[in-house]
Amino acid sequence: MNKKKQLLEWEAYPSELHLTPADQKVLSLAKTHLQYSYSPYSNFKVGTGLLLENGQFLGGSNQENASYPLCLCAERVALAAAASIYPNIAIHTLAVTIQHAEKIIGEPAMPCGACRQVICEVEQKQKQAIRIITQGMKGEVYIFESGLSILPLAFDASFLL
Ligand code: THU
Repeated sequence: MNKKKQLLEWEAYPSELHLTPADQKVLSLAKTHLQYSYSPYSNFKVGTGLLLENGQFLGGSNQENASYPLCLCAERVALAAAASIYPNIAIHTLAVTIQHAEKIIGEPAMPCGACRQVICEVEQKQKQAIRIITQGMKGEVYIFESGLSILPLAFDASFLL
C-alpha cells in the first residue's frame, strides 16, 4: 500500500487592501454584482467577477428558481456569459464573494464542488489556468492559482477519450 497526498497552497491576504489594483477591481466587480443576485429562497447572495485576457471585465450572480435544483450558481452564470459573449477569449481571473442576509461571514467564499468541476472544464478548454480570488463579507482574501488546485483528482475528458 502506498500513501499518497497532495499539498494545497494558496495566498492569504488580511483584506482586499493588500491586493494589486487589478485584483481589487475584479473583486469589487463581484461585490457590485451581489445586487443582481436573485435569491429569494436562500437569501444568500453570491457575486462573481471575471477578468478576461483581453482586459474586459464581466460579472455574475446566483439566479434561483422555485424549483430549487434549477438554481444557478454565480460562478457558472459568469463563466457561461463569458463563453457566450467572448467565446475565444481566455479567462484570467475569477473573483467570488457572498452576502448572507442574517449573519456576517468572514471566511472566504469557496466555489461549490459543481462550480469547481465547471471551472476545471473551462481551464481545459482554454488551456490556461483561472486564478480564483475569494472573500467573504469582509476580512481575509484567498487567491488560488487554478480551479484544478481546489479540485484534487478531478474527473475530466481524458477519462472519456
Ligand atoms: N451558490 C453559488 O452561487 N455559488 C456557489 O459556489 C455556492 C452556492 C448559490 C446557489 C444558491 O443560489 C445559493 O448560493 C445557496 O446555495
